[in-house]
Amino acid sequence: MNKTILVLTGSPRTGGNSDQLAEAFIRGAQNAGNFVLRFDAGRKQIGPCIGCQACAGGNGGCAVQDDFAELSGYLQQADAIAIFSPLYWFSWPAGIKAAIDKFFSYYCSGTQTRVRESIFVVCGESDKMETYDSIVASYEHTAELMHWENKGHIVVPGVTAAGDVQNTPAIAGMEKIGTYY
Ligand SMILES: Cc1cc2nc3c(=O)[nH]c(=O)nc-3n(C[C@H](O)[C@H](O)[C@H](O)COP(=O)(O)O)c2cc1C
Repeated sequence: MNKTILVLTGSPRTGGNSDQLAEAFIRGAQNAGNFVLRFDAGRKQIGPCIGCQACAGGNGGCAVQDDFAELSGYLQQADAIAIFSPLYWFSWPAGIKAAIDKFFSYYCSGTQTRVRESIFVVCGESDKMETYDSIVASYEHTAELMHWENKGHIVVPGVTAAGDVQNTPAIAGMEKIGTYY
């Protein structure tokens, strides 16, 4: 069945490795007849959650207006989410971390988004798989709290310069996953 898939990217670097992985996934997903929404959190203006808890009595979404409002709208349209991020200092880049912090507005208000399932793709310079443990754990806890069925994660190690990912099997793999997701 065709789905609306939200592709959430995290890199501030346009056209970098995680963008290229996302684009391969999008090609596959669209070729299979799915509708794709894309939100590049690393290139948006999203302030930090200030812990005001004004969202507690709402229906999800942040009370402080910024670009998270656009992402919030997408979360109510999409059936599934696919997250693509580079590893920054063993964790999320700041822009997507700010967006994820604002997912608190759903948790806090007991509101569920439309999204029902998720996958996560992370890339980084390191070849040591344990380097990615903390970001993967963060994703897994996020999926659980957001009531997404976690369909799994993929680590793409050993990529540094923009385009390094083209020398890995990950691009072809991502297109295939897009087709079947
Ligand atoms: C600020 C910053 C922090 C980074 N931290 C890590 C890290 O902790 N571990 C790692 O393996 N790579 C790290 N990297 C490398 C990136 O994850 C890697 O270059 C990745 O391919 C960038 O993805 P992009 O091309 O989509 O921007 C870091 C890069 C930057 C710019």
